[in-house]
Amino acid sequence: MATLRSSRSLTLAARGKMNLALEVLGVLPDGYHALDTVFCTLELSDVLHIEASDQFRLEVLWEGPRPVSLPQEDNLVSRALRLLEKSTGQTIPASLKLVKRLPAAGGLGGGSADAAAALIGLNRLFELGLPEAALGSLAASLGADVAFCLRGGTARGRGRGDRLERLPPAPALEVVLVCPPLGCSTPEVYAAWDRRVRPPATGASQRMVEALEQGNSEAIVSGVANDLEPAAVELYPELHRLRESMLQAGCVSAVLSGSGSTLVGFPAGSPQEVARRLERQVSAEVHLTRLEGTGR
Ligand code: C5P
Repeated sequence: MATLRSSRSLTLAARGKMNLALEVLGVLPDGYHALDTVFCTLELSDVLHIEASDQFRLEVLWEGPRPVSLPQEDNLVSRALRLLEKSTGQTIPASLKLVKRLPAAGGLGGGSADAAAALIGLNRLFELGLPEAALGSLAASLGADVAFCLRGGTARGRGRGDRLERLPPAPALEVVLVCPPLGCSTPEVYAAWDRRVRPPATGASQRMVEALEQGNSEAIVSGVANDLEPAAVELYPELHRLRESMLQAGCVSAVLSGSGSTLVGFPAGSPQEVARRLERQVSAEVHLTRLEGTGR
């Protein structure tokens, strides 16, 4: 996470994530789903500015697709700050400015990345002294993906996706993101998965781990897979057509990230050319970015 530091303010990049592989193994007693997933950070990020102030303030500027209005209190950044206040017993008078570039409800972990950046940044700027393990458990209580976003890089996630194991860094492959103008509701996509007949386990995550261990880019690109994709396509059939368009435009493979709605494609030739073709063909935002496989 890039950091510009002054004595009274801090700016952090809150990078998005994709799931190179995501297997849903079943339902946990609390209704959450047991996952075996391989996360990788993306270069594309939101930006969080934190300043010491006299009172809490949050300003949100939308630069990316699909602006949504974030309430002052009930959003992941504010919740991260309140959790830090609760666990340290201190008031944290921070003024926060969040520049959003990652699409909302896009499966790229935008909200989770913002929350992780808030935990790290506030801990540093206000010298709260919380060790990484304490931040990790606060992160996991904020959401299944926040724990990964805290460290970033390349990791396998089990349990809810928050039991993490570091993996060899994914190569810096360029990817094209196609963000359709629809926000996928994560609980609804999981509920659609619940209603479907369960397919046999694919072993996609284990194969992805082996591809990463071998540094085999071809196997990484051809091995991307997401068990949530058929459930998301059932709710939002347009996703299937978009995926087909990505393959026709020159992607070797394309996969839904998380519960969607962003599709991540791996271009065969020039990524710029593939992105230009897609911009002409699909009614969705198209971004070029790359895997940022090395965490903090
Ligand atoms: O943890 P987070 O708030 O990101 O999860 C949002 C929703 O996604 C949960 O309320 C749950 O319905 C679903 N979910 C799940 N299993 C997971 C992660 C998320 O069922 N491992």
